[in-house]
Amino acid sequence: MNVPVYRPRRLRRTEGLRRLIRETTLTVDDLILPLFVTFGKEKKQPIKSMPGHFQLSVDKLKEEAAEIASLDIPAVILFGIPQEKDETGTSAFDPNGPVQEAIKFLKDKNPDLTVITDVCMCEYTSHGHCGAIKDKAVDNDATLALLAREALSHAEAGADMVAPSDMMDGRVAAIREKLDAEDFSHIPIMSYAAKYSSAFYGPFRDAAESVPQFGDRKSYQMDPPNSDEALREAALDIEEGADIIMVKPALPYLDIIRRIKDSSGYPVAAYNVSGEFSIIKAAAEKGWIDGEAAMMESLVSIKRAGADIILTYFAKEAARVLSK
Ligand code: PBG
Repeated sequence: MNVPVYRPRRLRRTEGLRRLIRETTLTVDDLILPLFVTFGKEKKQPIKSMPGHFQLSVDKLKEEAAEIASLDIPAVILFGIPQEKDETGTSAFDPNGPVQEAIKFLKDKNPDLTVITDVCMCEYTSHGHCGAIKDKAVDNDATLALLAREALSHAEAGADMVAPSDMMDGRVAAIREKLDAEDFSHIPIMSYAAKYSSAFYGPFRDAAESVPQFGDRKSYQMDPPNSDEALREAALDIEEGADIIMVKPALPYLDIIRRIKDSSGYPVAAYNVSGEFSIIKAAAEKGWIDGEAAMMESLVSIKRAGADIILTYFAKEAARVLSK
């Protein structure tokens, strides 16, 4: 019989031994919680496909802010549902829009909370695309000025960081230039650099009411089979002034997270998107999977792949597990 000299099982025998050689640690410090803020008052509208998540009016953020503080979650990212939508999404830079009001409210209630904003036009345009339309296509260069105005309006309201998710070419440079010109050179940009055209965004588009009214987003979001292209996207955004590089979605793109982590030398964020959340929730509801275990395994896998930061709808649940 061939007796192995090295037996990997020796170090798996007890939880104490496993703890000692564990290579990856997930902590609450890694997590960003996405929030959907809507116009009006006294609204807490459940998002059907995302159990435990709501469209909240600004006044309803009070309980949310307290819970986030008690769980010690370091940051949130805000998405807005405006009252009015138009062709070019002008409500995106309304100083009294839901996102702008939410920033002020949250920073007032909880000054230590890092408030990040998603910068994109899709929630604000009547057609649901991520920019201005010309001849049935998204007009890249005309959209840059709109995005820069949106980012500036978030910074003016007190946001700690802006996160462009539109995938227009040149948007990081346009936003950086605008922020710097208006005395916001201290505000970092977390760029959705490698954002794929993904079926896993389905539940989010219901939550943010941003389904494109015609066509799809394939002419601006990345094609799922591509990987070298993600490195070019990351390099471009870094050249344009991005401070943090994001990969999105997370679980189907762990290889991309690893490649960007290894090659960029920049902090990497990964967005564990709505569909990744909802499939675990749905299977757990049916009793087909242990939801909590699947959640923790997913999050630690994203960290192991190289993410320094994880945006996740599981942030509160994971924070509770981590504090046990
Ligand atoms: C806006 C945006 C989207 C998501 C984040 N920002 C949707 C999209 O591109 O269609 C998706 C987030 C998620 O699915 O959780 N452009």
